[in-house]
Amino acid sequence: MAEYICVLNKDSIIIKPAKKTPILLRMIVLLFAMVCGVYICSVCLKQISTNSKIKIQDIQVIERPSPDVDHENLQISSVHYPNPETFTRAECVHNPVRYFAILSMQRSGSGWFETLLNSHVNVSSNGEIFSVLDRRINISSITQTLDKVYNLDWFTSASKNECSAAVGFKWMLNQGVMKHHKEIADYFNHRGVSAIFLFRRNLLRRMVSVLANSYDRHAKLLNGTHKSHVHSTEEAETLAKYKPMINSTLLISDLKEAEITATKALEYFNNTRHIVLYYEDLIKNPTKLKDVQAFLGLPVMDLTSCQVKIHKGSLSDHVMNWEDINKTLNGTAYESFLQADY
Ligand SMILES: *[C@@H]1O[C@H](CO)[C@@H](O)[C@H](O)[C@H]1NC(C)=O
Ligand SMILES: *[C@@H]1O[C@H](CO)[C@@H](O)[C@H](O)[C@H]1NC(C)=O
Ligand SMILES: *[C@@H]1O[C@H](CO)[C@@H](O)[C@H](O)[C@H]1NC(C)=O
Ligand SMILES: *[C@@H]1O[C@H](CO)[C@@H](O)[C@H](O)[C@H]1NC(C)=O
Ligand SMILES: *[C@@H]1O[C@H](CO)[C@@H](O)[C@H](O)[C@H]1NC(C)=O
Ligand SMILES: *[C@@H]1O[C@H](CO)[C@@H](O)[C@H](O)[C@H]1NC(C)=O
Ligand SMILES: *[C@@H]1O[C@H](CO)[C@@H](O)[C@H](O)[C@H]1NC(C)=O
Repeated sequence: MAEYICVLNKDSIIIKPAKKTPILLRMIVLLFAMVCGVYICSVCLKQISTNSKIKIQDIQVIERPSPDVDHENLQISSVHYPNPETFTRAECVHNPVRYFAILSMQRSGSGWFETLLNSHVNVSSNGEIFSVLDRRINISSITQTLDKVYNLDWFTSASKNECSAAVGFKWMLNQGVMKHHKEIADYFNHRGVSAIFLFRRNLLRRMVSVLANSYDRHAKLLNGTHKSHVHSTEEAETLAKYKPMINSTLLISDLKEAEITATKALEYFNNTRHIVLYYEDLIKNPTKLKDVQAFLGLPVMDLTSCQVKIHKGSLSDHVMNWEDINKTLNGTAYESFLQADY
């Protein structure tokens, strides 16, 4: 009995002080909860920001806040709702459209890359529209052409018309891009056009492709027609039979020049929303194509192309004066071009 009372007493002793200071305890609990809350929030925020940083670096997208904001503080976004003059966007009128331009150099895989993009049901990449001199003769004809493309009023076999979610074309750097870079970058920033840079790391392989393609322009190895891209291994083999001779005196300066052009282009469009891709990476790493689709805000699909690579295997099999070239590049910054297999 005594024990039981004692316990009861103890209980009451324990409970009573608790009842005496409920406000103090509640305050302590509340304070603790607040501190915890603030701490958890700050940790979460940190994680979110590092996550997004990593993602952005991974896909090599450089987005700057400045071009998105106009001088009058208007938001220029990369998402558009064009209103074509030649047709109505029908059921897709409420789908946003992105504007892009593939900026590249001849024989860097841009033809292949463009067929991949165009295999997407929502992409219209309209080819090398500035290969026609008239369209790039001055900046006003360039802007007129661009306006028409981005208003969806430019028609090619690639046009998906009403349900395009990304519209663009491919543009070689020597087709007015470098010459009018200032105005073009302004246009891109003002209209919210994203640039997709596509370069080739191995500039020696690019050179071989340029020389062979230029030879075929006259020689027309495939039954008397000149082809820059082929769709079968037989055609590829026929074209690869021709081994160009590379002028070793000019080799280093030619490689350097191509390198400088690419670097300058990146500088010129540094403030434009862009992504930088390399042909070799696209071949080796299929997830790069997903990065491009994400960059263009597209639903991700498997992209396919029927094009076949022309110069396969070791480069030494494709150059007439290989020993000479080997010697010229030995010990230079371009030595690795001799070995790489792409
Ligand atoms: C640009 O070229 C077009 C076509 O040659 C010409 O009609 C136009 O006047 C030129 N514009 C300027 C600003 O030079
Ligand atoms: C893509 O195209 C399909 C078929 O034309 C269409 O149904 C769909 O809405 C389009 N998607 C986007 C994001 O525009
Ligand atoms: C050239 O034409 C012939 C007959 O028309 C055809 O059998 C052959 O495959 C063609 N060759 C190439 C390289 O296209
Ligand atoms: C290489 O180019 C230089 C300069 O244009 C020229 O003088 C030389 O003859 C060329 N060499 C060959 C083998 O074509
Ligand atoms: C782009 O601009 C940033 C900052 O202005 C600079 O750090 C970076 O080197 C530039 N990149 C190129 C390719 O010019
Ligand atoms: C490459 O350079 C190294 C030294 O720089 C030399 O020993 C070697 O023989 C060279 N190879 C060729 C193919 O010229
Ligand atoms: C370049 O020449 C050297 C010496 O003849 C040879 O060992 C090397 O394999 C050559 N490199 C290539 C890529 O052909």
